[in-house]
Amino acid sequence: MKIAIVGTGYVGLVSGACFSEMGIDVTCVDIDEQKIARLLEGEIPIYEPGLEELVKRNVDAGRLHFTTDLTTCLDDVEVVFSAVGTPPDEDGSADLKYVLEVARTFGRNIKKYTILVTKSTVPVGTAKKVKAAILEELDKRGENIDFEVASNPEFLKEGAAIKDFMSPDRVVVGVESERAQKVMTKLYRPFLMNNFRVYFMDVPSAEMTKYAANAMLATRISFMNDIANLCELVGANVDNVRKGIGTDDRIGKRFLYAGCGYGGSCFPKDVKALVHTGLENGYHLRVIEAVEEVNERQKYIVFEKLIKAFDGGLKGKKIAIWGLAFKPETDDMREAPALVIIDELLKAGAEVVVYDPVAMDECRRRIGDAVTYAKDMYEAVIDADAIAIVTEWKLFRMPSWAIIRKAMCGNVVVDGRNIYDGEELKELGFKYSRIGQK
Ligand code: UDX
Repeated sequence: MKIAIVGTGYVGLVSGACFSEMGIDVTCVDIDEQKIARLLEGEIPIYEPGLEELVKRNVDAGRLHFTTDLTTCLDDVEVVFSAVGTPPDEDGSADLKYVLEVARTFGRNIKKYTILVTKSTVPVGTAKKVKAAILEELDKRGENIDFEVASNPEFLKEGAAIKDFMSPDRVVVGVESERAQKVMTKLYRPFLMNNFRVYFMDVPSAEMTKYAANAMLATRISFMNDIANLCELVGANVDNVRKGIGTDDRIGKRFLYAGCGYGGSCFPKDVKALVHTGLENGYHLRVIEAVEEVNERQKYIVFEKLIKAFDGGLKGKKIAIWGLAFKPETDDMREAPALVIIDELLKAGAEVVVYDPVAMDECRRRIGDAVTYAKDMYEAVIDADAIAIVTEWKLFRMPSWAIIRKAMCGNVVVDGRNIYDGEELKELGFKYSRIGQK
């Protein structure tokens, strides 16, 4: 079986590598010539554990190809996946220009029955627009070639992308015919052999499922952050509350960790886009809107705790930031809380020293030399007045506090991810604060 995947971002590249690992012949397409040139050299543009080996193995086996031109493989493939970006417009809606461009190229060039499957997260109703764009191009050609559109949202998490793709909890596919369903079944059977959990449904429901899933997860986080902030005021501990509620099967244990806010390429964008879709349809999604509001506020919480620790005077204080990526195991800093915290600290006149195991280059690219880049987590704390933990990398979980205490000139530790034992740190003479506990 042969397929093409347009867009070699996170979703496109991981999907391409994983499909090819299952023996499918995959051509990955991207208009970015530099990116394709790098990929052909075996260079992976993103940090994702295991991806480099996977790509190399399948390129060497001759099952995974890269090109800048979709038309070179279009005649051979049964399915074209569209995994191009949908950056948010100023008003929060998803910009579909790349998605529709793929549709037009598809319409201008197909010669036989082919399915165009949208994998990018796109608002409900996009499939209709994609179909219209293809029909328009076919019309211009004066040809009547059979084709179909389908929706197959991707649920993989950065940092665990390969595992998530290889053994997904479920695969959701929106189709318009049995013929397309058969093709998609063939494609996904290898991934879910024994426990085949592909949910076929109508296209709008598939499009909606992705947004509902992300909005639900984001809601859990903002809910817990709200509860955490109240815990601090009433003298409760949010970690106890989390355990207390998570053991209820209906609630479940996962995704209930309070912290300094969610970031990344999905939650912030998708939550905004969903609110926008609601408004476009005359419906005000009040809960989801509040989720976004709470998260924006939560990104300031570490800064506020630092202000409090120094009685408002951060001018000239040296603050070490541990963790820049929006979560561990990635170098992605899109919408990362660290960006807000650093910005506020600089505005307050603090000196900022940062360390992250993989996101240093990304940080340099974004904020240049406004901050100092430390060689390691210990160098970052030399002469620091305070440490703020922003990303819960494993590396930060059990540091040598005695060394740190000596190296610092102050003793403030603000734990934005609740990874330390407060009692232990207090005994060592640190002034320790965390999220959701007074
Ligand atoms: C998310 C969805 O999980 C995935 O299904 C979808 O396809 C894309 O969006 P990702 O953006 O990779 O994936 O990150 P995820 O691991 O879900 O974490 C998102 C953010 O939530 C991170 O900033 C993380 O720190 C935060 N988070 C997560 C919490 O603050 N508390 C939690 O309990 C869980």
